[in-house]
Amino acid sequence: MSEPTTPRLLRALAGETLDRPPVWFMRQAGRSLPEYRELRTRAQDFISFCHDPEMAAEATLQPMRRFPLDAAIVFADILLIPRALGQKVWFETGEGPRLGPLPPIEAMADQVEASTGRLAEIGETLKIVRAKLEPERALIGFAGAPWTVATYMLEGRGSDRSAARTYAYQHPDELDALLDVLVEATARYLVMQAKSGAQVLKLFESWAEHLAEDVFERIVVKPHTAIIEKVRAAGIDTPFIGFPRGAGALVETYAARVPVEAVALDTQASAVMGQRIQDGGKTIQGALDNLLLRAGGPALDARIDGLIAQWNDGPYIFNLGHGVLPDTPVENIERAIRRVTGN
Ligand code: CP3
Repeated sequence: MSEPTTPRLLRALAGETLDRPPVWFMRQAGRSLPEYRELRTRAQDFISFCHDPEMAAEATLQPMRRFPLDAAIVFADILLIPRALGQKVWFETGEGPRLGPLPPIEAMADQVEASTGRLAEIGETLKIVRAKLEPERALIGFAGAPWTVATYMLEGRGSDRSAARTYAYQHPDELDALLDVLVEATARYLVMQAKSGAQVLKLFESWAEHLAEDVFERIVVKPHTAIIEKVRAAGIDTPFIGFPRGAGALVETYAARVPVEAVALDTQASAVMGQRIQDGGKTIQGALDNLLLRAGGPALDARIDGLIAQWNDGPYIFNLGHGVLPDTPVENIERAIRRVTGN
């Protein structure tokens, strides 16, 4: 039996079916909130913001003050790892991430151990947030999954990922070596996060789309499994949420093969597919369309009720299918969360 203060999110991840699902939103911290936009003007640049524990803790806590959310997600970014491994990373305002040339893979392999130390501030952020957050509210740590991070490292920016996929075919040994470096660095980073207060760990595979089944096995299933096994071997039993966004029918392969406690579903996930994953013994999370959250109105209420009706007969975490869009009205976010929590 769980303690009365056991966070609802942890109960769902332990496989409990609850009277109502826990709720949190990807990108709940960020530009949709006026207080975030104000805080952001005080940061030199986005990377220094992520590496400033006081400021990052404040950004993490802003949505927790405003909304009755069941979990906070640490304010950081998936591109802090390539930087910690020695690749140049910066953000062009209004455009997104930019990365310098890919360093030699052997040079990055030599940096794996040191990389975790270069991410120590994220551990400090987690400690500050955990100390301030009520015990009923869970704290989530995260990392980008190796393939998604590799797409940015190889292409130097956000893109359609076709160059990265071509690289996977033309240079399989180099790609595998790069993924191995990322698996090792990511596992160490997640162990550090768990030791710093993260009660849940999420792997963001934001670009799991368009992958053939054999490629999906090699660059998604295998590295995710390796990361989780390494974290477990370090004595950490923190539950994992895996998010293979865009994987379509391969989401079920993912759920069956990767030892995550929960699978986060994107907007396209069907009701029956989610139910089959629950029947297979895993918790599911998702999958409200972020455009519908932005649009609001009766269609938003109806879809929230529909998702709960279709999935809350098993372990379920309410969330979006992708992150909150920056121009989402705050009233819609508030209304959606209250519709789920019933207050
Ligand atoms: O609230 C939260 O979800 C926690 C913080 C968080 C951020 N990035 C902060 C952020 C998380 C979990 C991420 C993950 C992330 N970062 C992903 C995976 C999730 C997804 O959305 O698919 C990816 C692909 C990235 C890489 C990234 N970071 C991009 C492509 C961009 C630019 C696009 C954009 O939205 O501006 C970022 C920047 C970023 N990361 C912002 C925030 C709040 C906006 C930066 C700003 O304030 O100017």
